[in-house]
Amino acid sequence: MSFSYRSGSLVFVTAAVVAGCSTDSKEPLRPGVDDSSQTYQGTPDADETAFWTALRDGDDTGRASAVSKMVADVAKDPGNGYSEFLIGASNFMPPTSVLAALAGGTMPSQFQVDGSAAMPYLMEAPNHLSDPFYLGFDEGLAADLELQAGNTAMGGPLFGEAVGYNHAATGYMSILNDLFQNNPSQALTDAYGLFDFCNGSAVDQGGADAMAYAGKMNAGTLVHRECYSGYFAPHGSPGELLIMAEVEALNGDTAASTAYFAALQTATDYPTWPLKPYVERRLAGEPVNGQLVAGIAATCGTCHTDALP
Ligand code: HEC
Repeated sequence: MSFSYRSGSLVFVTAAVVAGCSTDSKEPLRPGVDDSSQTYQGTPDADETAFWTALRDGDDTGRASAVSKMVADVAKDPGNGYSEFLIGASNFMPPTSVLAALAGGTMPSQFQVDGSAAMPYLMEAPNHLSDPFYLGFDEGLAADLELQAGNTAMGGPLFGEAVGYNHAATGYMSILNDLFQNNPSQALTDAYGLFDFCNGSAVDQGGADAMAYAGKMNAGTLVHRECYSGYFAPHGSPGELLIMAEVEALNGDTAASTAYFAALQTATDYPTWPLKPYVERRLAGEPVNGQLVAGIAATCGTCHTDALP
C-alpha cells in the first residue's frame, strides 16, 4: 500500500496512529508518558527546557518566566501533564538567595510553599501522566500539602500510592518532613530506607559502605535516577550524601557522619558544588545545626542548581 502525499487519507491515518499509540507515531515523545525512572524519556518543549535551564543556572527570573509560559501552554493544552507537574513543583522551590545564604553561612530567609497555587496543577497532572516517576512525584507533593493542611484521610492514602510509583522522590520527602518535625531518629530510619532502595540491598548503618555507595553514584549504577547526579540535578550525589552525613551527625554518630563527609567529597561534581563552602566550614569544626540541615534538604537548589549566578 502506498500513500500519495496529496491524499487526504494519509492525514487521517497518521492522526489515528497518534491517537492510538504515541510511541509508534512520528510525533516526538512527550515527557511523562514512558517510565523515566532510569533515564529521562521524551522531548521537552521549549518552555519546559527553559524552566530547567533557569533552575540549573539559579536564575529566578528565568524560572518565573518559564512557569508563566507553561501556565499559558496548559491553558491551551491541558493534556500536557509534564508542564502541569513542573508548574506545581516550582511552588516548592525557594529562591536562589536561600541557597546563596546556606553557602555563605548566613541564616536564610523563611520560605513558604504556595500550596494553593500548586494544588490545582498537581491535581490535574496525574490525569495526563503515565510515567510512574512523575505520577509518584506529583502525588507525593499533593499528599504533602494535604497532610500539612491536616487532611490525613486524603493525604495518607495518596502518599501511599505515590510511594508505589516513585520510592525515591517520596523517600526524600519523608526525610524532609522528619527534619521539619525535628525528629532526627525517624530521619535516619527514612534516610536508610532511601539508600537501601537506591542500592538495591541494605547499606551498612555505621558508614562502612559510604565510599562504595558514592562510587555507585559516580558510575550511575544505583537503581533509580533520583539516587545520583544527572542533568536535572547536577549535584544530586553530594546533596544526598550530605543529608545522610548530617542526619548521622544529628543522631550523634560521629564515625558514620565522618564516613559520609569523606564520601561526598569523592562525588565527581563536588568541586563545583555551590554548597562546598558549607562542607568546608563543617569540616573545620562548625557544629551541626538541625535548622540548617532542614534548610539544606528543603532547598531544591542544593541538588538542582549547578552554580550560583
Ligand atoms: C538531595 C538532592 C535533591 C534535592 C534537595 C532535590 N532534588 Fe529533585 N532530584 C534529585 C535528583 C538526583 C533527581 C534526578 C536527576 C536527573 O535525572 O538528572 C531529581 C529530579 C527531580 C525532578 C524531575 C526532573 C525531570 O524533569 O525529570 C523534579 C521535578 C525535582 N527533582 C524537583 C525537586 C524539588 C521541587 C525539590 C525541592 C522541594 C527537589 N527536587 C529537591 C535530587 C534532589
